[in-house]
Amino acid sequence: MGEVLRIAGGKRLEGEVWLPTAKNSLLPILAASLLCAGPVRVRQVPRLTDVDNSLELLRAAGMKARREGEDLSLSPGQPGTGSLPDGPVGAMRSSVFYLAPMLHRCGRVSMTLPGGCPLGPRPIDIHLDGLARMGAEGGWRGERLTLEAPEGLRGVDYTLRLPSVGATETLLMAAVRAKGITVLRGAAREPEVVDLARFLMACGAHICGAGTGTIWIQGQERLSGAVYRPVADRIVGATVLAAAAATGGRVTLRRCVPAHLEAVVEVLVRAGCQAQRLGPAALMLEAPPRLEGAGLVRAGEYPAFPTDAAPIVAAAFLRARGNSHFEDTVFASRFSCAAGFSALGAGVQAAGRRLDIRPFGPLKGACVTAPDLRGGAALAVAALQAEGVSLIGGTAHIRRGYGDLAALLRRLGADARWQDEESTRTFDGNKGKNFLVSCAESSIRP
Ligand code: EPZ
Repeated sequence: MGEVLRIAGGKRLEGEVWLPTAKNSLLPILAASLLCAGPVRVRQVPRLTDVDNSLELLRAAGMKARREGEDLSLSPGQPGTGSLPDGPVGAMRSSVFYLAPMLHRCGRVSMTLPGGCPLGPRPIDIHLDGLARMGAEGGWRGERLTLEAPEGLRGVDYTLRLPSVGATETLLMAAVRAKGITVLRGAAREPEVVDLARFLMACGAHICGAGTGTIWIQGQERLSGAVYRPVADRIVGATVLAAAAATGGRVTLRRCVPAHLEAVVEVLVRAGCQAQRLGPAALMLEAPPRLEGAGLVRAGEYPAFPTDAAPIVAAAFLRARGNSHFEDTVFASRFSCAAGFSALGAGVQAAGRRLDIRPFGPLKGACVTAPDLRGGAALAVAALQAEGVSLIGGTAHIRRGYGDLAALLRRLGADARWQDEESTRTFDGNKGKNFLVSCAESSIRP
């Protein structure tokens, strides 16, 4: 039986949220633990399906992994054969992070195509090209990728063809235990890259320049373990800010890095919100009852507006007084949630990398489907502003990146909860036939 996220809109959100650990920092760090000879303890690990899948991969690679309260404890056991199970590999993009650590740990890696959100083409050519320059041999046979490094990996001077976050992280993990010095040019500068470098340095790696376009790495034969708490999740932060902005609310983010949210806050302030830093790790945002239009917002590489936040913040502008235009320069299909926005009654048009929003009538609750992780969060932000009940299907996407989005929103006063699809039909029967028919005809297929 499928699950839906049920949101009754119209509540003004108010309160305080402690940001969880960033999924996109945590997942490469979990893979990087395979590079360590000693135990690793990762602090405050949220319960995400991507973490469950990572644990399966780590165990297949011979790591002993167990949860201890909020922490994850990882220690090296016997290295496996280098083959990774198809299920978890195909369930997330982050399985690509296992290539370099497995080459160091097992001398080989064999896996199927990594999965992840359908955001347009997501090739891994830069990961593979960089690894090949460092001495990895092999390639695709059908949909199976097998790489070997019989002589180990060696340092190189490598220029990435574009600043891919994932490829920078792959090559960083390859370089910290390669023979000699690696220079990565044209590297991604995202906070999650810096966080991975910090974790690796805590384990004894020598890295200089993470967070800039050029990273120098002196390879080490051995890395120890470490106790590490990854950085706070800036995209969950952006989600909470967008939810407050959408509902004329007021929220305080705690355990956040305000600098990581600067581009998002700037757009919301331009639209009439007030923001204030409350010390080094807290940020308050207060929204007017209705936002002004956002104008043109262009998402790109850090420190530009984050691509992951684009559909979510766009959702806050569905009721705005003026026009908003969001453009994503990173992924080709970032705005698949536009169909859901339209179903809720918004005046939106998505074409290619662009989403245009114009003032339209009020939003009305509807049955919609999350097309991907951030698109799902965007539909939740949209539903918070709609009159009546919305049901969001495709919740498996949302659960990959938000521990419990319903609980997070409820803490701020929203009427949001998970329900199984069948009981939703019965529960909302008093809304009459039209509502049931629209649900039955909608594309809820979690
Ligand atoms: C990471 O994806 C994040 N995922 C994404 O978050 C995030 O949107 C993205 O970085 C950009 O910030 C994880 O960290 C697990 P890229 P990644 O490599 O590494 C092209 C979320 O919702 N490219 O920087 O896959 C690619 O097609 C997710 O949490 C190549 O052409 O992003 C894309 O257009 C979604 N060849 C662009 O680069 C390559 O070898 C940027 O991708 C690699 C990438």
